[in-house]
Amino acid sequence: MTEILPRQAVAPSVFRRTLARHAAGVVIVTASSDGVPVGLTATSFASVSLEPPLVSFYVDRSSTTWPSLRGAGRFVVNILADDQSETAARFARRGIDRFVPPTAWHLDAHGSPLLDGASAYLHCLPHDTIGIGDHILVVGLVVGADTLRNPNPLLYHQGRFGRFQPHE
Ligand SMILES: Cc1cc2nc3c(=O)[nH]c(=O)nc-3n(C[C@H](O)[C@H](O)[C@H](O)COP(=O)(O)O)c2cc1C
Repeated sequence: MTEILPRQAVAPSVFRRTLARHAAGVVIVTASSDGVPVGLTATSFASVSLEPPLVSFYVDRSSTTWPSLRGAGRFVVNILADDQSETAARFARRGIDRFVPPTAWHLDAHGSPLLDGASAYLHCLPHDTIGIGDHILVVGLVVGADTLRNPNPLLYHQGRFGRFQPHE
């Protein structure tokens, strides 16, 4: 179906250029799809609700990973640490096995893949999905959460990965 854009909408190039000014944390959403680990890098992660604890991310309708993620009974949001930019790039690349070395990972008690070296894990059950524009909003109920050794976040800004520099 052809979607008619509202006449007032900005051009995609303007939209991209302006949104690049927005710095974002980086996560990798992982799951086990019939025993096969799947995952993709996302900057569209956000917390949604405290009670109940809900988080969200948006996935492109053209994602080849989404059908496997959607079929999984649970998923994990791996919040990346500042030394994980290569992992983030790998989980955004098509046509490769993202879970072979140098990716280091292990399974949790529920059989979900966890990426070693992440800053935190959010263990989620699927709560809702809503199609919006060319993306799908995925909402998860957080049923478990762990913070790990490295609190420093990986950020993405103007097409590059970087670190958070706090004011003195
Ligand atoms: C920094 C960065 C952030 C990204 N954020 C998202 C995102 O929020 N949602 C999304 O669907 N894809 C996002 N992508 C693209 C996916 O990681 C991946 O490239 C895309 O889903 C294609 O792989 P797939 O077919 O396995 O999904 C991002 C890529 C990068 C490098």
